[in-house]
Amino acid sequence: MSEQTLSNLMHEDRRFEPPAEMAADANVQEEAYARADADREAFWADAAERLDWGRKWDQVLDWTDPPFAKWFVGGTINASVNCVDRHVDAGNGDKVAIHWVGEPDDDTRDITYAQLKDEVSKAANALTELGVQKGDRVAIYMPMIPEVVVAMLACARLGAPHTVVFGGFSADALASRITDCDAHVVITSDGGYRRGAASALKPAVDEAVEKTGDLVRHVLVVRRTGQDVAWDDSRDVWWHEAVDGASADHEAEMHDSEHPLYVMYTSGTTGKPKGILHTTGGYLTGTSFTHWEVFDLKPETDVYWCTADVGWVTGHSYMVYGPLANGATQVMYEGTPEKGRWWQIVQDYKVTIFYTAPTAIRTFMKQGREIPDGYDMSSLRLLGSVGEPINPEAYIWYREVIGGDRCPVVDTWWQTETGQIMISPLPGVTAGKPGSAMKALPGISADVVDDDAKSVGNGNGGYLVLKEPWPAMLRTLWGDDERFKETYWSRWPGLYFAGDGAKLDDDGDVWLLGRVDDVMNVSGHRLSTTEIESALVSHPKVAEAAVVGAADETTGQAVCAFVILRDSAGDGGEDIVEELRKHVAKEIGAIAKPRQIMVVPELPKTRSGKIMRRLLKDVAEDREVGDVTTLADSTVMDLIKSKETSAS
Ligand code: WTA
Repeated sequence: MSEQTLSNLMHEDRRFEPPAEMAADANVQEEAYARADADREAFWADAAERLDWGRKWDQVLDWTDPPFAKWFVGGTINASVNCVDRHVDAGNGDKVAIHWVGEPDDDTRDITYAQLKDEVSKAANALTELGVQKGDRVAIYMPMIPEVVVAMLACARLGAPHTVVFGGFSADALASRITDCDAHVVITSDGGYRRGAASALKPAVDEAVEKTGDLVRHVLVVRRTGQDVAWDDSRDVWWHEAVDGASADHEAEMHDSEHPLYVMYTSGTTGKPKGILHTTGGYLTGTSFTHWEVFDLKPETDVYWCTADVGWVTGHSYMVYGPLANGATQVMYEGTPEKGRWWQIVQDYKVTIFYTAPTAIRTFMKQGREIPDGYDMSSLRLLGSVGEPINPEAYIWYREVIGGDRCPVVDTWWQTETGQIMISPLPGVTAGKPGSAMKALPGISADVVDDDAKSVGNGNGGYLVLKEPWPAMLRTLWGDDERFKETYWSRWPGLYFAGDGAKLDDDGDVWLLGRVDDVMNVSGHRLSTTEIESALVSHPKVAEAAVVGAADETTGQAVCAFVILRDSAGDGGEDIVEELRKHVAKEIGAIAKPRQIMVVPELPKTRSGKIMRRLLKDVAEDREVGDVTTLADSTVMDLIKSKETSAS
């Protein structure tokens, strides 16, 4: 990384101490770091003790065949029993597990733990009727309705690994995932609500099933919107017919700790998605413990809300398994962020812990603070961020406008592969620095290394690696052990390479710099896309920015920026491009000055909100734009291209 790297991100030097009350009462205190360092396995064994096991483990960790880890070896456990039955057995059956908020106004349901247990048991019985057995894979393609949680937990109960495919993915994407994991049953719904209108899901399933030959034997369909659907009597089954009539008694079997829990597909550097495999005991330990630790969860009083879609790992770890294993009360919202709706929900349900992504925060910043200022959000006590580096401006806005300047912000770094949060402040311990994810959590060993795997030391940048196995780590890529080794463990023996660049500041705190594939080399200087983006969004007229390195004859790569202006900036004025170039030069140095800045109406984002820089690179390098099928809105690239044509 360049010496200048992060100089911009680090301009904000305010520190935010934990509120005294939170510090005094925090679930996890400073001593945990030393305790975990002294005996990592004992630390994780304590975390596992928080769960109910059928049979206790003989060995905490078996790492004799790296990189294939086994956690809580010999133990047996059922994730579904831990997420529902045990709360009912403990007398908390009447407690609300999920405050579900539908997209149409006034469409809400409160589901208690006792009701959830009944629904999960019925669904498990119904799936058994459909021939699902332990070990079989089940694909789930659903909107954000309670039945998706029920379906996941029913699969977990049976030991049938689920693979949840985000409801916005195409039929092709669904088909390739069904095929890759060889699923014979798909659970879906007729449709879901998006921006006030019913949008169909079943036709994509029909198409995917068609494409996969005779692989899929049954499609279980929830009636959500009531829209017309094509029906194949030999294959399709209504959820309300199969599940509602099933018995609410289901004796759950305890599964081996290493029994597969789910497969989650995520994109890699090549075209073929990777099926990340998570197993049961370690995953549930890692997610439930960190959920309790990082969000300082007080299950008796907190109302937790993670805005992620269940189709992503955040929805799995921090909406389903972590919070439910902890007996939390949480909000689940069917819709997408719309102007005031989120804040209305925070106000109505008195949400205390709120977990979202920087991209959402920046969207709200762009709309102006008047909107959130119109709601009473005094119930909030803790804010979380995940998915990409949070630039200091967004952090400060989140803290001040949403958090009333009283709630700590936990910037949580982790990945689909890690399963659990790895680097984050502890809300009752850490004095937060805007823009830094701070330190590896107790029991986690991370470092920043150079090309020769040497620790770079404080004040330097390099590659983020994980040095010790952790309970919720991926076990392999589904059906592809070789690719698992090659992708994550081949660069430096014994180290898990996360694919992210990072820098340690003078205090040893971690600053994430984005994927190393996004690092640019301009005239021999290495520059981070994140750093330049942060500089751009620190300009008062800029709402969002994406930067790519485009091939350049003279300098190797050149910085190309795409910016969305704030509503209040109008068209930015005639000299906006020059103004922004100067601003970047001022913030970072002349070397970082973008060669080209395009003002655009939208940025190409995946459905999980990640900017697809690859497509912007195509524009910057004047190539035909590549595959746009994973974009949330595939028309965005046309908008950007037409903008370019009209500008040139
Ligand atoms: C990025 C999402 C900076 C990072 C849970 C990582 C972050 C990738 C942060 C994983 C953060 C996630 N700060 N970068 N707090 N959280 N990332 O698999 O590049 O969808 O490698 O998992 O997102 O994305 P994934």
